[in-house]
Amino acid sequence: MINLNNSHLEPAIEQAAKILASGNLVAIPTETVYGLAADAEQDSAVAKIFAAKGRPSDHPLIVHVLNEEQANYFASELPAFAKKLMKAFWPGPLTIIVPRKTSVATASAGGHASIGLRSPSHPVARSLLEKCLTLGVRGLAAPSANLFGRVSPTKAAHVRADFPADLLVLDGGECSVGIESTIVDCTRQEPVLLRPGMINSEQIELAMQANLQLNSSAKIQGKEAPKASGTLESHYAPKAKVRLFSKNELEESIFEYAKSSNKNRIGIYSTLPKQLIESIIWQLMPNDAAQCAHDLFSVLREFDQHSVSEIWVENVPEIAIWAGVKDRLKRAAASA
Ligand code: TXA
Ligand code: MG
Repeated sequence: MINLNNSHLEPAIEQAAKILASGNLVAIPTETVYGLAADAEQDSAVAKIFAAKGRPSDHPLIVHVLNEEQANYFASELPAFAKKLMKAFWPGPLTIIVPRKTSVATASAGGHASIGLRSPSHPVARSLLEKCLTLGVRGLAAPSANLFGRVSPTKAAHVRADFPADLLVLDGGECSVGIESTIVDCTRQEPVLLRPGMINSEQIELAMQANLQLNSSAKIQGKEAPKASGTLESHYAPKAKVRLFSKNELEESIFEYAKSSNKNRIGIYSTLPKQLIESIIWQLMPNDAAQCAHDLFSVLREFDQHSVSEIWVENVPEIAIWAGVKDRLKRAAASA
């Protein structure tokens, strides 16, 4: 995690807290991706998030809180395994879905009986949450600060590219994690993984000393999984068509492409050594999962800037530490 010195940002953080308290939106850095934030308890402010993103208003938002005490304000109960997760991974890139107090943050929760809570570790987000508390704002509802269905932003410039110039964007540098938080549903008898992220299933099981169910096991305890846009089949999609290949398939396809005439520009994201081929924009895929997660959305956005028609991506390893990256690539490739 980058150790940011926030002091030069203090006036901006103060201004941001005031904007939020007055019921308006601010884009904020977190360690995962940038968020588009509003006071979680002002329904009219939260409505502005849905309108700005073009997101269906029954899709619940994650509420960002400073700590467990603030989480308790929004949650009607915290199951023992949820508490273990908070102890192990907060502040950090883990969201828990827990039963919601009926009177609080209804619009943020999209009207659902549950609420998603996360305590971010980014120092700017934490300073902002502290400042907000002094103004009576107990939590910030914030989805990723991108237009609905598009790639999440990991730099302030990404946010500025998607939203009008009058939106205040707190610039906290590049997000260190780079993909959205891991989401664990704690509203059923057993914990269920709704969205993989950089805190992986093995770490979660170790912290809870219990098994983590996968959302794909459809109905668990007779209850359907709640709606989560991060779990829609096609999401996080760049404009170009994303295609996934095994390393061998990719090598062959590049060979064929190089021989052919009449080429559309394509992007390659692979661990294969870079080749200089006309009309190919080549980005090296790191061998390290954390580095790859950190780079991924930036790389996808850069390909779009080069107006490539297709992005060819090498499949990542089938192991727990790669699950978050693999999930985002699968969804990016699933778009029409
Ligand atoms: O890392 C992150 O989680 C980022 C940063 C900004 O914190 N936020 C983020 O938010 O990715 P968003 O809205 O793009 O994705 C949140 C996911 C959505 O799929 C949403 O449906 C799900 O969390 N979610 C939130 N509250 C929920 C609830 N009560 N029940 C089920 N799913 C929920
Ligand atoms: Mg999102």
